[in-house]
Amino acid sequence: MPNSNETRSHYERIGGEEKVRALVKRFYQLMDASPELQGVRKMHAADLAGSEEKLFMFLSGWFNGPQLFVKKFGQPKLRQRHMPFAIGDAERDQWLSCMKQAMDDVVEEEALRSELLAAFGKVADFMRNKQ
Ligand code: HEM
Repeated sequence: MPNSNETRSHYERIGGEEKVRALVKRFYQLMDASPELQGVRKMHAADLAGSEEKLFMFLSGWFNGPQLFVKKFGQPKLRQRHMPFAIGDAERDQWLSCMKQAMDDVVEEEALRSELLAAFGKVADFMRNKQ
């Protein structure tokens, strides 16, 4: 059950910058190393460092911490930014499975993991742009 007295941001509950960085690092390590995630891996550049930094900056703000992405790149317009990539159910499922595994490894609080998985699921659904 979610704790209705919880007033801390997702950023604080995860454990701040260090943990958000660790989450994103794990996410791309898994994407790089897992045979079942190669569909989404291949959409990314050979060197994942740029993607890692951008996702870190975005999640920092999305978790209600410092708005690093918006300050540097402006409004995220995520759907528009994903238009160059063909994203359907399979790609969404791979991305979410990768994020779930990364959260299982890095995010300690179980209730937070489920809240975030549901929230990531909504954004990932919205990112689909092909049948
Ligand atoms: C649904 C499946 C998804 C796929 C297949 C996907 C794939 C990609 C790819 C290939 C890139 C380009 C990498 C780069 O240029 O650095 C990218 C960028 C990005 N993705 Fe995703 N993504 C998905 C979902 C998401 C979700 C759910 C989020 C946020 C919660 C997200 C956040 C971002 C951000 C912030 C960027 C950098 C955008 C930019 O500045 O161009 N993505 N994604």
